[in-house]
Amino acid sequence: MAMVCLSDFEAYAKKYLPKTAWDYFAAGADDESSRDDNILAYKRIRFRPRVLRDVSVMDIRTKLLGTEISFPVGIAPTGFHQLAWPDGEKSTARAKAMNICYIASTYSTSSLEEISAAAPGGFRWFQLYIHRNRAVAKQLVQQAEALGFQGLVLTVDLPYTGKRRADVRNGFRLPPHMRLKNLEGAFEGDECSEYGVPPNSLDPSVTWNDIYWLQSLTHLPIVVKGILTKEDAELAVRHGVQGIIVSNHGGRQLDGGPATIDALVEVVEAVQGRVEVYVDGGVRKGGDVLKALALGAKCVFIGRPALWGLAYKGEEGLQDVLRILRDEFRLSMALTGCSSVSGIGRNLVQFSKL
Ligand code: FNR
Repeated sequence: MAMVCLSDFEAYAKKYLPKTAWDYFAAGADDESSRDDNILAYKRIRFRPRVLRDVSVMDIRTKLLGTEISFPVGIAPTGFHQLAWPDGEKSTARAKAMNICYIASTYSTSSLEEISAAAPGGFRWFQLYIHRNRAVAKQLVQQAEALGFQGLVLTVDLPYTGKRRADVRNGFRLPPHMRLKNLEGAFEGDECSEYGVPPNSLDPSVTWNDIYWLQSLTHLPIVVKGILTKEDAELAVRHGVQGIIVSNHGGRQLDGGPATIDALVEVVEAVQGRVEVYVDGGVRKGGDVLKALALGAKCVFIGRPALWGLAYKGEEGLQDVLRILRDEFRLSMALTGCSSVSGIGRNLVQFSKL
């Protein structure tokens, strides 16, 4: 099968993954309108291409909080990579040949040590969920820092898990041979729910003040993931975070909120360059990456497409996905008259009336 674009990997994953795993990856919350709108919203944006601008030499590199990456795409944190490929997150980490940022989830089926050892020296951030037992977060954050992770991503849109109908219908449970390796021993004696942690173990009382608590635990830069409004963007900046990921969790949490590329506009306007802003959700081709950068994102992150790549061929499949996105991004840049990332600006796009 010739893999030409990201939907080829999606089709492969849908065909070959067990239905429960496919559904777990694909699902959005409720009737999945935000999940689908993340993708549709990119189609409502159109380029304003410029011509005759010498695109013979292209520079698609950029920096994330000071670290150079080879192109402005990273891997969003997603749980349970072993559902896609036996080596799970170890394979994801090994795709580091692409020199981009991989955000490892708290809910990984490989431990932070295993992820580090799989690809020493890779550029990685650690994504944190705060559980009621705060000692767990403290230990994980400090372990990530000690292992050389370079940033801490606090996911803020999951005080409770969204209702994903497919998982309920399938009676989804993490298969018994898979473990949430970062949480082993953390909930000793508690009955675990379908997602491998005790029901209600997440701490829904987390507030902005907890950013100060995290800052007291670590020197790592803190990025908040799950911001959709200018008000929260302002609060994030005021609480001293270094980055914001505009995200609706791939439409898996609140259904009915904005598409992330739409929300990006107000967040970027509020932030005014004080911190870096990134976006995830619905990025499916290189042109989408370019649109997000034109609207002010420093980088985009991909969730499901990375899982499809893993499902196809482990680290090689993920590298294929990244390579295709990279090449499409470079081509879109050239066809809109941009030869370097720093030359991508707001006037490159317009919102169509569709
Ligand atoms: C996620 N996401 C997520 N986010 C997070 O902060 N921690 C996590 O453990 C997970 N787990 C997870 C599992 C699966 C199967 C999916 C699809 C998503 C959300 C993820 O980081 C990201 O926000 C979205 O996946 C982006 O949307 P796309 O690229 O999947 O459309």
